Amino acid sequence: MSFNLPSGEAAAPRPLPRHVAVIMDGNGRWAQKRLLSRIFGHEKGAEAVRAIVRSCRELGIPFLTLYAFSTENWQRPQAEISALMGLLRRFVETERAELTQNNVRLHVIGCIERLPEDLQAALRGLMAETAAHSALQLNLALSYGGRDEIARAARAIALAVRAGRLDPESVGEETVAAHLDTRGMPDPDMLIRTGGDMRISNFLLWQLAYSEIFVTPTLWPDFGRESFLQIVHEFQLRERRFGRV
Ligand code: FPP
Repeated sequence: MSFNLPSGEAAAPRPLPRHVAVIMDGNGRWAQKRLLSRIFGHEKGAEAVRAIVRSCRELGIPFLTLYAFSTENWQRPQAEISALMGLLRRFVETERAELTQNNVRLHVIGCIERLPEDLQAALRGLMAETAAHSALQLNLALSYGGRDEIARAARAIALAVRAGRLDPESVGEETVAAHLDTRGMPDPDMLIRTGGDMRISNFLLWQLAYSEIFVTPTLWPDFGRESFLQIVHEFQLRERRFGRV
């Protein structure tokens, strides 16, 4: 599939990514630059989420994983944590119709159990409601950390070995992958990080092994359809060798 760039130029007919992962950084700086509270930046950031979901649907990209709240984010000031939880509650309410109309399945990766109970219930409800949707799977990484995910997988494997359900000699990469939160999904073909920092920040540590990385200085609230199409176009121009020559 190819698509038209903002300029109208036709993109090279390379495959589109099947899975896009995004570190949505820069909400705080976006707000501070305007002398607004960081929370206002997160509100704008939530609007940018809608734009990228729409863009993935438009292009036919089947998996999108957004880093919305990390295990480390629990150390932020309580007011900011509460505001982010409030935005997630609002997201579940306001996006319900849009996700349904657009055949989008919602999925959560991370420790959903650490979230406030009402939010857990709302997320679980929307996950169940959208479970049969097949055009796009939207993974929200919530209370997510890559090391935590790998440690949880290791624990599950150890328990399966102890229970006699798994032969330790058979444990390989597929076994680990099958115990991660992303089991059954393709690894991300590309990682986008907004806000300019050159870090992975404990995101999808196992799954990003061969992902193409794109860091843009654009702050997340300013990252819209055009920025996304431009980066997908750059992805289509990159040669991927997966360690081969
Ligand atoms: C990083 O910006 C962003 C976050 C910690 C939260 C991301 C949340 C949203 C985009 C909004 C809510 C999400 C949904 C799905 C409704 P930062 O605060 O670290 O920015 P800074 O680096 O400029 O300080």
